[in-house]
Amino acid sequence: MTRSSPLTPHPSPVIAIDGPSASGKGTVAERVAAALGFHFLDSGALYRLTALSAMKHGVALDDEAAVAALAAKLPATFRDGAVWLDEENVTDAIRAETVGEGASKVAALPAVRAALLDRQRAYRQAPGLVADGRDMGTVVFADAVAKVFLTASASARAERRYKQLIEKGNSANLPALVADMQARDARDTARAVAPLKPAADALLLDTTHMDIESAVLAVLAHYTLCMARSKQGN
Ligand code: DC
Repeated sequence: MTRSSPLTPHPSPVIAIDGPSASGKGTVAERVAAALGFHFLDSGALYRLTALSAMKHGVALDDEAAVAALAAKLPATFRDGAVWLDEENVTDAIRAETVGEGASKVAALPAVRAALLDRQRAYRQAPGLVADGRDMGTVVFADAVAKVFLTASASARAERRYKQLIEKGNSANLPALVADMQARDARDTARAVAPLKPAADALLLDTTHMDIESAVLAVLAHYTLCMARSKQGN
C-alpha cells in the first residue's frame, strides 16, 4: 500500500469527517463525496458488520480474539446501494440499535480495530475519498488533507434519531434515546484505543443549529482552503 510522507504527498486526497453518532456526519460525508465525485467510506458500517457477524456466529462481543478473527475475514460487500454479509442483504439489520450498541462494544477492542485498519485504508483511491467515522483524522487517515469534527448537542442528536425511527415506522422513546446517546458517547470517548476526539488540526463544526446543506457547504469550503494551503506547501 502506498504510504505518504511530507515529501511525497499521497495522490488521492482524503477528507476525514469524524464525530459522535447521529451528528449528521454520515449524510454530510456522503453528499460531500457525491459533490466531488470521491469514494465514500462509512467506517461505522464495518464495526456494525463485525458486531452483527459476531451475534450471528454466537461469539461473545467481549471475546477479543474471536471477534478480531471475524473482523479480519468479514465477508462484507457494499454494492447496489446495499450492504451485504455473504449473500444476505443486511442494510437495515446493521442499523438496529442493538447492533449499534454491539458495534460500540467491539470497537473498543484493540485487536478488532487493528483487523479493520488495512481494509479501511484500501478505500483510498483516485480521485479521492471522504471517510466517515470516529478516528479517520486521528488514526486511519492521519495525513488527510482536510479534517472535520462534526458535532451537535446530545439532545439535538437524539431528536434527529427519534425522527428517523418514527419516519421508518418504528416506535421510539426520546428520553431513552438521549440516555443511550450519552452512554455510547461516553464509551466511544473513554476507550483507550482511538477514542472519539477531534484531531488537533480538525475544523470543529457544531451542527446543533445548522441544516445538512449548510454543513455540506462548510466542509466543501474547508476542503478547498486546505487544498490551496497544501499546494502552497504550508
Ligand atoms: O457511526 P456509527 O454509529 O455507524 O458507528 C457505530 C459504532 O462504531 C460507534 O459506536 C463507534 C464505532 N466506530 C468506531 O469506533 N470507529 C469508527 N471509525 C467508526 C465507528
